[in-house]
Amino acid sequence: MRLAIIGHGRMGQAIETLARERGHTIGLVVSGGDNREGQALAPGQLAGIDVALEFTRPDAALGNLERLIGAGIPTVTGTTGWFDKLPEIERLVRERGGALLYAPNFSVGVQLFLRAAEDLARRLAGRPGFEASIVEQHHAGKRDAPSGTALRLRDGVRKVDPAREFPISSVRSGTIPGTHSLLFESPAETIRLEHVALGREAFAAGALSAAEWLPGHQGLFSFEEMLFGRER
Ligand SMILES: NC(=O)c1ccc[n+]([C@@H]2O[C@H](COP(=O)([O-])OP(=O)(O)OC[C@H]3O[C@@H](n4cnc5c(N)ncnc54)[C@H](OP(=O)(O)O)[C@@H]3O)[C@@H](O)[C@H]2O)c1
Repeated sequence: MRLAIIGHGRMGQAIETLARERGHTIGLVVSGGDNREGQALAPGQLAGIDVALEFTRPDAALGNLERLIGAGIPTVTGTTGWFDKLPEIERLVRERGGALLYAPNFSVGVQLFLRAAEDLARRLAGRPGFEASIVEQHHAGKRDAPSGTALRLRDGVRKVDPAREFPISSVRSGTIPGTHSLLFESPAETIRLEHVALGREAFAAGALSAAEWLPGHQGLFSFEEMLFGRER
């Protein structure tokens, strides 16, 4: 496939490396400096692109997605910190008959961790004596906090145990690729469920699988829906 990589930072570069290894062609690479007014995403620039992968920053994602969907390009986005605007984008995708797949986290391991977390929270619902909390740790350059994955984790566990708050603590330090922990602590014991990303390879692999899956589909999809279907 001929891919456009929108955002050529840590994630864009990891995706580019893996895409070349998998035999894809990189037809376009766009960084912030190339795209001040969205000029790098004019329809002419996107001619011949099969799928775009958008990993930029919270304040750039919406404009980029509007342009990509407007130009009819199936798009995978992993940018976090803009999901409150998802209904607007969903409307546009519907109007244009486009295709967009999004995820706060493209690691399959994280998607399984989220399901295990909900199962644990369900089993502990109504049991007094445990304090529940979420801790997420990322590198110092991450712009949004809490992470999109921590917010998704909290939504999931609160759905099965609305009586608990699940407060989130965020750590920004060094080069940590991404660690998420769900804790239930009592004076006598701690239950800790944790996902540790060791690099960006798992995110890049999931995003590329999504890019390979998306053409031929129409509508708004989450990575979870791609992996597990629409039933939860
Ligand atoms: N879903 C997942 O699995 C996952 C995993 C990791 C990270 N993320 C998210 O992905 C996003 C990117 O993360 P990262 O670590 O790669 O960040 P990063 O290293 O800071 O890279 C961001 C890139 O976006 C570019 N950019 C900024 N504004 C742009 C615009 N308007 N148009 C095109 N490119 C633009 C930047 O270019 P300049 O440097 O020239 O400004 C830079 O190349 C973040 O939101 C992060 O939270 C998601």
